[in-house]
Amino acid sequence: MEKATFCLFLSLLISRTKLGDTGCSLPVDWDGEFHDSSDSTQDITITRYNNYVVGWSLTVFISTVSSWTCVDEDKSNNLLLFKSNQTIDVFGAPHDAYRCIKYGMLTIHSYSYLILANIESNAGNKRVLIMPTNTVADIRSACNQSNGLPSAVETIVFVKKGYIAKAAQSCPSPFLGCYNYSLNDGSTTYCDGTSVWDVCSDRTQMVVNYTLCSKKQFFSNGGVAYCAYSTSVGSNYYVTVVNADSTVDFTTTFRFTCYAVTSSGGYVYASDNIGACVQNQSPYNKSVTGTGTLVLSAYTFISDVTTETSDDNVGVIVGSLAGVVVLVAAVVAVVLIYKKCQQTH
Ligand SMILES: *[C@@H]1O[C@H](CO)[C@@H](O)[C@H](O)[C@H]1NC(C)=O
Ligand SMILES: *[C@@H]1O[C@H](CO)[C@@H](O)[C@H](O)[C@H]1NC(C)=O
Ligand SMILES: *[C@@H]1O[C@H](CO)[C@@H](O)[C@H](O)[C@H]1NC(C)=O
Ligand SMILES: *[C@@H]1O[C@H](CO)[C@@H](O)[C@H](O)[C@H]1NC(C)=O
Ligand SMILES: *[C@@H]1O[C@H](CO)[C@@H](O)[C@H](O)[C@H]1NC(C)=O
Repeated sequence: MEKATFCLFLSLLISRTKLGDTGCSLPVDWDGEFHDSSDSTQDITITRYNNYVVGWSLTVFISTVSSWTCVDEDKSNNLLLFKSNQTIDVFGAPHDAYRCIKYGMLTIHSYSYLILANIESNAGNKRVLIMPTNTVADIRSACNQSNGLPSAVETIVFVKKGYIAKAAQSCPSPFLGCYNYSLNDGSTTYCDGTSVWDVCSDRTQMVVNYTLCSKKQFFSNGGVAYCAYSTSVGSNYYVTVVNADSTVDFTTTFRFTCYAVTSSGGYVYASDNIGACVQNQSPYNKSVTGTGTLVLSAYTFISDVTTETSDDNVGVIVGSLAGVVVLVAAVVAVVLIYKKCQQTH
C-alpha cells in the first residue's frame, strides 16, 4: 500500500475506533450473543459496530423496552450509558429509559456489571433511570450517584454464548466440598437424607445427583452448573452460577442462579434466586423469585480431596495481563506510526 493511502486508512481507523457511531466504543469482546443474568427472559445480542443491544427487556407502565443504544461512555471509570430505543408512555408524556452500567472483566468470555440507578417500582423493580424525552442525558447526569447506587450483592454477570465452561471460576469457600442437602420451598422439604451436591470433584462446578433426589437445582435439567462470580458482603457470599444445559427455555429452566450463602454451626445455608441476587436476599429466607432455602451438610471437605492449591484464577489473570501487554505494545506501535504519518503530511 502507498504510504499516503496507508496513513489515511490509519487515521480513518483511529477516528472510527475512538468515536464509534454515538460516542461509545464498547469493549472489543462485546459482540454477538450473550447470556445475561439481568434478563431471565432471553439471551441478549450486542452489535458492537453500532453500539446496539437487543435484550435487557423492561416493562414500564404500559410500554415495553426491548433494545438499547450506547450513547455515552467514561472509559477511565468503566462506565457506559445506554438509552432505550423505544419511548415510554408515562400517562401520555413520552419518556426515555437510561441504563448506566459500571463493568469489569471476569475472564475474556465473561464480564460483571452493576446498574447505577434507582430501583423503579414502575419498572418491575429493576434499576433504571426514566427521564422525559428531550432531556439531555450524559454520563455526568445519568450516572450520577445521587440517582441511586446498587450494592455488590446485585452484581450482574454476562457470558459469551458458547463459552459457558470457559467462564468457570473457583466456587467460594462455603460451597467447596461434597454435601448432602435439603431444600425447603416454603411448604415442603425435599432431598433430605439421600442427596449429593458435589463441589469437590471440580471446585469450579456444582453437580447434583438427580438419581438420589430429582428436585431440580439451579434451574437445570442436567444438574451441572459452573460458578462464574462471587462476592462477599459481611458474613454472606453471593454466588452467580451458570447452568451448563445446552439450552434453557426461560420458563422452567434458566441460565443463571444467584445464591446468598453463609456457613454456620457446621452447616451451609443458602437461598437461590433466578438471575442475579436481589438487594435483601438472605441465606435463610426464600426469595420471591427463588425456589427456596437450602441446608447443606458436608461429608467431604475440599481439603480432604485436593491438597494442592488450585490457581484457576491466577491463570486467567496472568493470561489477561499478557493480553494487555501485547495490546499496549500494539497501541504504542500504531500511535508511533500515526505520529510519523502526521509529521510527513
Ligand atoms: C436506536 O436508536 C439510535 C439512536 O437513539 C438510532 O441511531 C438507531 O438507528 C436505533 N436503532 C434501531 C435498530 O432502531
Ligand atoms: C448530581 O446530582 C446532584 C443532586 O441531585 C446534583 O446536585 C448534581 O448537579 C448532579 N450532577 C450532575 C453532573 O448532573
Ligand atoms: C445428610 O445425610 C445424613 C445421613 O444420611 C442425614 O442424617 C442428614 O440429615 C443429611 N443432611 C441433610 C442436610 O440432608
Ligand atoms: C448417583 O447416585 C446413584 C445412586 O446412588 C449412583 O448409582 C450414581 O452413580 C450416582 N451418579 C453419579 C454421577 O455419581
Ligand atoms: C428471614 O426470616 C427470619 C425468620 O425466619 C426473619 O426474622 C428475618 O427478618 C428474615 N430476614 C430477611 C432479610 O427477610
